[in-house]
Amino acid sequence: MSVWRAFISTVLLYPDVFSPRGTVMETETVHRQASAQVTHKNKMNELSGRDWIKFTKSWFVHRPEPRGDQKIRHPASFPESLVREFVSFFTKKGEIVVDPFVGTGSTIVAALETGRSGIGFEIVIKYANISKERVQDALARRMAHKEATESKSSWARIITADSARLSKIWREKGFPLADYCITSPPYWNQLRKSHMRQKGRAEKGLDTAYSDNPNEIGNIEDYHDFLGALKRTFDEVYKVMKPKGYLTIITNNVFSDGRMYPLAFDTVSTLSREPFAWTPKDEKVWCQDDKKLLPLGVFNAWVGNRHHQYCLIFRKEG
Ligand SMILES: C[S@@+](CC[C@H](N)C(=O)[O-])C[C@H]1O[C@@H](n2cnc3c(N)ncnc32)[C@H](O)[C@@H]1O
Repeated sequence: MSVWRAFISTVLLYPDVFSPRGTVMETETVHRQASAQVTHKNKMNELSGRDWIKFTKSWFVHRPEPRGDQKIRHPASFPESLVREFVSFFTKKGEIVVDPFVGTGSTIVAALETGRSGIGFEIVIKYANISKERVQDALARRMAHKEATESKSSWARIITADSARLSKIWREKGFPLADYCITSPPYWNQLRKSHMRQKGRAEKGLDTAYSDNPNEIGNIEDYHDFLGALKRTFDEVYKVMKPKGYLTIITNNVFSDGRMYPLAFDTVSTLSREPFAWTPKDEKVWCQDDKKLLPLGVFNAWVGNRHHQYCLIFRKEG
């Protein structure tokens, strides 16, 4: 079928999805057609055509549940509910998800909850231990649930190590190649600098930075050195990724010492360099309308309230 004919039949099949506001007013018929028509041809995931198209919108609003006791101990975790949506798009059940900066294990918990397996690397021992506890709980929940009877069983490993050694450890452990990576690296050294956002945590005695470990990349002072460390980590991920596997990085530009550092944009250009060049595919903008507005620069100068994050999408084409 030509690309044009395929497009026309998709529009006819999902007219609601193509409505001007991009809203989805589901009808029984469309939903049934979507499920029946698409599943047997779908190379990437188990979504219906309707859900596939919905996910391709370039921005979304996501309001996560409040973080539980274990996650709150970490200064910058991301929600499982968000990771579940990406994992469900970029993999099928039984596939392997990797996170080189796993923190409290949200990626691996989300992978298990969606019937995938996961491998996470974390350099700070206390966060790796939280990950291990949360992964054990997720596995236990899964065992207790009917899904445990499914033929493809999920498994998880949390490795307490510097992800600069990721591919070597991967080989030593004999892990199969990964199908997908989703992660959120430190936003350069920003945790150490965002005094206003961290004030509430400091008052409650919670961590306001990850660690003092010099190999923890959030401790790198120089911006370009930080980008170099980021590139080396994603070179490592590239080495263990299946050809055609995708990578999603959740990150942001940062405002520091009176100027913007375009960290999200520089992440795209840095990772797309040879060797181990990731091909940039797109960004999805996560709009956060549940964050407190802070009085930044009022009556003095422009300082924005940054209430969005970039979910950058890359692929290993080789
Ligand atoms: C933004 S946080 C990730 C949070 C995670 N997505 C979650 O939901 O908990 C970045 C994590 O990367 C870890 N990290 C920094 N440098 C690392 C390195 N070289 N190797 C492994 N982990 C590292 C930090 O300790 C921190 O927990």
